[in-house]
Amino acid sequence: MEVIVCPTYEEISVAAARVVAETLNEKPDAVLGLATGSTPLGLYKELIRMHKEEGLDFSHVTTFNLDEYVGLSHNHPQSYYYFMWENLFKHINVPVENIHVPSGTANDYRAYCEWYEDRIDECDGIDLQVLGIGSDGHIAFNEPSSSLASRTRLKTLTEQTIDDNARFFDKREDVPIYSITMGVGTILDAERLILLANGEGKADAVAAAVEGPVSSMITASALQLHPDSLFFVDEAAAGKLKMRDYYDWIQKNKPGSPGA
Ligand code: PGA
Repeated sequence: MEVIVCPTYEEISVAAARVVAETLNEKPDAVLGLATGSTPLGLYKELIRMHKEEGLDFSHVTTFNLDEYVGLSHNHPQSYYYFMWENLFKHINVPVENIHVPSGTANDYRAYCEWYEDRIDECDGIDLQVLGIGSDGHIAFNEPSSSLASRTRLKTLTEQTIDDNARFFDKREDVPIYSITMGVGTILDAERLILLANGEGKADAVAAAVEGPVSSMITASALQLHPDSLFFVDEAAAGKLKMRDYYDWIQKNKPGSPGA
């Protein structure tokens, strides 16, 4: 695991966007795993800028989103499909047929989740998966007690997640209580993981994920089991990391860095 602490949210967004751009430069038909929420907005803004100003090309890219609320259709303003369309897809040149966001309105969820997993396999897996982290330590909607071997499935949200996400809805009662989400096992199958976290509200979750025991109670801690995961964390979200100096020391002494 690599922990990269940057002073501001803008800097973690730009640093993470560089990793996405490097992936696309190496593999123009890369499969990207994408996340929703407030955290990746800065990353998406930077990718849009790179597309418009530097010609970053998404024309051969395939995307898979982590999760969706059950009951919300693609055109519902709070659906994750709508979020992705408004905040990324409509601004770049990814072919619409290459976009996958789990459906919140499937008739048979079990079959649908199996199809989603199969579709990822047919595309030879995810090359780079973008992640946020919930204040309860979740990745995607893998709430505490989710199996670390879980696959795409229906998941009941915790009250904490419903509270956290109520800000996007007119009222708390409007937040769906079920989601369809990639599992922790699905996420761990990606070649490379980048997790972004900003703000004081994420400091406990980040510390637990990076320095705590691997536990289904903090599903982000499963990243400790992955051979290539990067955490991009701003100062506030890094506030509870005990080994912070060491992480900075590693970055300073990386081959090619000014401190090396
Ligand atoms: P946020 O959500 O980016 O809106 O804080 C993160 C998450 O719940 O994974």
